[in-house]
Amino acid sequence: MSLQYDPPAERGSALRARFDARRSAVSTLDPRKDDAATLDASGVWRYRELVLPDASENDVVTQPEGNTPLLRRESVARWCGLDALLMKHEGWNPTGSFKDRGMTVAVTQARRVGATAVACASTGNTSASLAAYASLAGLPALVLVPSGQVALGKLAQTLAYGARTLLVRGDFDDCMRLARDAAERLGVYLANSVNPYRISGQKTIVLEMLQQLGWRAPDWIVLPAGNLGNTSAFGAALREASALGLIDRVPRIAAVQASGAAPFAASFRENFRERHTVRAETVATAIRIGDPASYDRAVRVIRETNGIVLDVSDSEILDAKAVVDASGVGCEPASAASVAGVRTLASRGVIGRSEVVVAVLTGHILKDPGILLQYHRDTDPPPTHANRPMEIDAELSAVERALASARRGRDVAR
Ligand code: F0G
Repeated sequence: MSLQYDPPAERGSALRARFDARRSAVSTLDPRKDDAATLDASGVWRYRELVLPDASENDVVTQPEGNTPLLRRESVARWCGLDALLMKHEGWNPTGSFKDRGMTVAVTQARRVGATAVACASTGNTSASLAAYASLAGLPALVLVPSGQVALGKLAQTLAYGARTLLVRGDFDDCMRLARDAAERLGVYLANSVNPYRISGQKTIVLEMLQQLGWRAPDWIVLPAGNLGNTSAFGAALREASALGLIDRVPRIAAVQASGAAPFAASFRENFRERHTVRAETVATAIRIGDPASYDRAVRVIRETNGIVLDVSDSEILDAKAVVDASGVGCEPASAASVAGVRTLASRGVIGRSEVVVAVLTGHILKDPGILLQYHRDTDPPPTHANRPMEIDAELSAVERALASARRGRDVAR
């Protein structure tokens, strides 16, 4: 199911101008006191005509969210084999992942329909985001996560924001089943990405990116894919942006899965003749999903955008992550799948060296500190990009030796 509403009266340049005026009003700290200012400050509600047109400032549960940067880092582009690469860093959202864009809309809607509790199944980011927005809305939240499979930062956030947190003895797919049953039988409001309000909010990742590019579509948008909510949202955004004349051509979408959790990639290789499910296993716990809920919508998106689905190994994900981290940007493992995917597609010649590519980084580096320390400190032998800590005696000579080797390291890197 997707949301149905009347398209805005304006199209093309008039609609672009409306969105641009809102953005520049915020960036120049326009001291307007009207209600619209609160909505304009959010990188989701700025596009409200395409998100939830009839929401008023009083309805909206906003932090605000969005307004994430498009970053360009030479070292990452070079590693991928491209002249330039842009990274849309969704880890800069208030709870550190893109989930906030969907959650502001879903929790707004929950409040509008008078929900008395909200719930979700999650690999960790959705639960952190729901916990925060439910707290903002004054609603109790119930989250179901696979026991022992949630990255430390995400679990810590979920507890801290105050959600009732259930560690389910099972995997994400079990949690999802349970959450759907709870919504149906126990009357809680389901905030997973099967909820069309979530998808509607997540469309703004693409809308904001297009606006940042001056409404010139890139050649490629590359994103990590798990439950396929985001892939569906990106397709919906491009469909609408194109129909409304915001852009004059549609970029290709590349959805990247982890090899141990790649049922969508398996179906793609067979031209989507069959829907696959797998028992998922990957270091990228965010996308450790074997039976993606938004499969059908995502198939449509890949077909419509002449898109591609591929998978990358855990070691490719961790190497990509180390390169993104060492550029001073940083991201969580699942996010790095997009950069690993760009490198693979560039090496196969599918993405041309000078094409305009936006890789979406979906979550913040501090979401998963456990995997970071394991990679840099605990793994033996150390992986390619490991940066091992050195224990030293409390003597200046030891500091001097370390400084000399750091300088040599930099020379090599240059
Ligand atoms: N990247 C991150 C950091 C995620 O947390 C997720 C999904 C994805 C990518 C994949 O997006 O599911 O829309 O295909 N996380 C969900 C969660 C499942 O519960 O936090 P998707």
